[in-house]
Amino acid sequence: MLQTIQQTADFLLSVMKTRPKVGIILGTGLGDLANQITDRQEIPYSEIPNFPISTVKGHSGKLLIGKLGGVDVLAMQGRFHFYEGYPMEKVTFPVRVMKFLGIETLFVSNAAGGMNPEFEIGELMIINDHINLFPEHPLRGKNYDELGPRFPDMHEVYDRKLIAKAFEIAAEHNIRVKQGVYVGTQGPTFETPAEYKYFSIIGGDAVGMSTVPEAIVAHHMGMRVFGMSIITDLGVEGKIVEVSHEEVQEVGVKKQPLMALIMTELIKSL
Ligand code: HPA
Repeated sequence: MLQTIQQTADFLLSVMKTRPKVGIILGTGLGDLANQITDRQEIPYSEIPNFPISTVKGHSGKLLIGKLGGVDVLAMQGRFHFYEGYPMEKVTFPVRVMKFLGIETLFVSNAAGGMNPEFEIGELMIINDHINLFPEHPLRGKNYDELGPRFPDMHEVYDRKLIAKAFEIAAEHNIRVKQGVYVGTQGPTFETPAEYKYFSIIGGDAVGMSTVPEAIVAHHMGMRVFGMSIITDLGVEGKIVEVSHEEVQEVGVKKQPLMALIMTELIKSL
């Protein structure tokens, strides 16, 4: 496994013209950010040795390497979801490669259903913690001590300084943001009303089908992590209506400029 990661990293290092320390996973809501990356190199996943290929509609698969707000970044346009059928090792493989490339801070975004009764559709939530409900743990199996410890501490997966800075940036730009706990589930079903209620009772504010595996693996390797969700639908009793992937994307697209602005300013402030 380490050799596979190294092989992929060596390939990328041989073609990359810069050495970014910032990695970004452009989930729903950050597509816009991709367009703001300048001086860029694009590498389709299909050309990267050992990389899985993304299958889900709306997530084209390529690496973008360039500048965002003057800072060198490497962004994944298209991520790998567990529900697509990939084992966790594949879902999180690109994050491990990022570490081998020298990435120190990982920014992730996603679309999520809001269970917190104070949330509204279209709001942004800074992830301050998560609950991992995926049926397979990304660190299950042999531990590679070169990557991180067998039993990683998880008391601060989402960097508190970055969260505080993000709130400052949001306030400066008059953007309303909430914070909360992201529940990661395998999907691909959206939740039943009873499931939304359950996730709320156990302490979740929002639920989605990504991010948690990547955040765990990044944290295991000592990377700083910052994550944000766009609340695209509500799992609040009395407000639950039919939800579709298209609607989720539509809300994501509308709100992404605000999320992109916060992320960009945060990256500039590093
Ligand atoms: N549940 C799970 N994943 C999601 C949701 C949801 O309500 N909205 C967007 N992604």
